[in-house]
Amino acid sequence: MNKLFRSAVIAGNWKMNKTPAEATELINAIKAECAGKATDGCTVVACVPYVDIANAVEAAKGSFIHIGAENVHWERSGAFTGEISADMLVACGVEYVIVGHSERRQYFGETDETVNKRVHAALEAGLKVILCVGELLTEREQGVTAEVVSRQTKIALLGVTEEQLKNVIIAYEPVWAIGTGRTATADQANEVCKLIREVVSSLYGTAAGNGITVQYGGSMNAKNAAELLAKEHVDGGLIGGASLKAPDFSVIISAAQ
Ligand code: PGA
Repeated sequence: MNKLFRSAVIAGNWKMNKTPAEATELINAIKAECAGKATDGCTVVACVPYVDIANAVEAAKGSFIHIGAENVHWERSGAFTGEISADMLVACGVEYVIVGHSERRQYFGETDETVNKRVHAALEAGLKVILCVGELLTEREQGVTAEVVSRQTKIALLGVTEEQLKNVIIAYEPVWAIGTGRTATADQANEVCKLIREVVSSLYGTAAGNGITVQYGGSMNAKNAAELLAKEHVDGGLIGGASLKAPDFSVIISAAQ
């Protein structure tokens, strides 16, 4: 199966940016930038801070933009101060959720095991998961990228059924490329996205591996998106900084058509 048969997904990760009022503005600006241009060649998602969800869902209503969250807790409810459950997200109109972003792993103590729990909670609630994996610069220099990315992928997917896997997108985000302006070359991105596909094939069979959407993320922008997205194993992008600028995000959406 070649990439034309897989769904392309362009997802913005707003991180800790934008107030609710600014969220409404940015969603409206993305809609305006994309007006009259093709958007049906890929799925477009904006993953926004929790407090922006209501405004983003409202502004995106009836448009091509789907709304995602940036994290989710694994319990359904209870004494977990400051956390948000998958059921809460669904009730707010959220369809996607990022799990295992490297900033969560680096700064908030997320482990492969808690990532796995979050993946399960999200899938059981009916959310689509954007599962992030990627190596640190030291790991790339030590030559263990394949081992790290395979381990992260395998543990995150432990216990996930073949049916549930259809709601999982994997984002390859080399940590050294995130927010640094240092993009992986298109060949580096393609190589690791291919490896992730092979890991999925080894767990679920070739059809599942060939069918899963694998994104690249890490300083993807309006200038480099087309080259990255043209690669056989790169089915989309998870975009941080450039997703906060409607004109740039719209160029990336066009590059995915
Ligand atoms: P960046 O972030 O595009 O700003 O590098 C990507 C991400 O962290 O998802």
